[in-house]
Amino acid sequence: MIGAPTTGAPGAAYGVGMRVLVTGGAGFIGSHTVIQLIAAGHDVLIVDNFANSKPTVINRLEAITSKHLPVHEFDLRDTERTERLFAHEQIDAVIHFAGHKAVGQSSQEPLDYYQNNLGSTFSLVRAMTLHGVAKLVFSSSATVYGANAAVPMNEDFPTSATNPYGWTKVMIEQILRDVAVAQPEMRIALMRYFNPVGAHPSGDLGEDPSGEPNNLLPYICQVAVGRLEKLRIFGDDYDTPDGTPLRDYIHVEDLAAGHIAALVRLDSTDRAVSTWNLGTGKGTSVFEMLHAFERAVGRTLPYEVVGRRAGDIAASYADPGRANTELGWSATHSIDDMCTDSWRWQSRHPNGYPDA
Ligand SMILES: NC(=O)c1ccc[n+]([C@@H]2O[C@H](COP(=O)([O-])OP(=O)(O)OC[C@H]3O[C@@H](n4cnc5c(N)ncnc54)[C@H](O)[C@@H]3O)[C@@H](O)[C@H]2O)c1
Repeated sequence: MIGAPTTGAPGAAYGVGMRVLVTGGAGFIGSHTVIQLIAAGHDVLIVDNFANSKPTVINRLEAITSKHLPVHEFDLRDTERTERLFAHEQIDAVIHFAGHKAVGQSSQEPLDYYQNNLGSTFSLVRAMTLHGVAKLVFSSSATVYGANAAVPMNEDFPTSATNPYGWTKVMIEQILRDVAVAQPEMRIALMRYFNPVGAHPSGDLGEDPSGEPNNLLPYICQVAVGRLEKLRIFGDDYDTPDGTPLRDYIHVEDLAAGHIAALVRLDSTDRAVSTWNLGTGKGTSVFEMLHAFERAVGRTLPYEVVGRRAGDIAASYADPGRANTELGWSATHSIDDMCTDSWRWQSRHPNGYPDA
């Protein structure tokens, strides 16, 4: 999977025609972003150690884009390897998706989370500064708004976290702000995602969690294909219209488009660090999501209401106004689109990606 070093085409540093390194490009959000980068006229190279993804994703990406994708399979924490990549490849910008992301697991394995998420970022940003690569788009998360934020959440809210995963995002944001002070030529985007769902319209790329899914939509998908018996709804006594928590679900295609918009914007902003929420601005309840999914599948699905889950809050949704105005971006996919696309992916691939 290791692509031969290439010198690359002379990179246009502005707008289209950038050569973009996508870390974690075989993952759920990274893979969808790779497709849109290529469609927008950029050249892509990927670093992924396949800790939470499968190499078969790359075959699918190559089939969908009709492009050969240089893939460098290694752990970004390998500083020497990362620097070698930057020394050999022309790279105009980086989108940094690589990291561990399971909230629950992060409480059980905090050191792994801090080590992986922070370590890979140190290694990456050090190599970028050594080799004069100034543009970085970082996958942050709405989790940095912590447990007590009001809704809708805007980028000026204070940050905090309730679990080690969330703290890695808060810390990396701070580290990147500090780097930008020391290296004012840097142009860094902190993208705070809400709840990414959906799948590529081809039905051949989607979310493939290992083990029992942590998130609502992958869980419903697995109930719908019979891999799980029923949906467990954690509490229906919240102060929300139907008693179940409200979340801001965003189609992964909209999320990917937000990254392309951010990359373009980094060329024209004077700010060293920009923070943008990527969300729809709308809260959808668990029951609303379940019913939308039932419409996509064409039948009802079994569920059971159980007790609240520690750490869950009643409502979390974005104020996406800044991204709407500054990026000219807004989410266009409805909840029904998200469910239809997720179901197409899951029904075509009930067991997710094959190993080879
Ligand atoms: N999916 C979500 O709900 C969500 C929400 C907010 C933020 N995010 C963030 O977005 C990013 C991408 O999320 P995703 O859902 O695509 O996750 P994912 O696990 O599908 O993708 C992450 C990819 O990074 C790779 N990776 C992990 N550590 C690595 C390392 N040290 N070196 C090289 N590769 C490594 C994994 O193999 C995987 O392919 C993550 O940083 C995540 O924290 C995700």
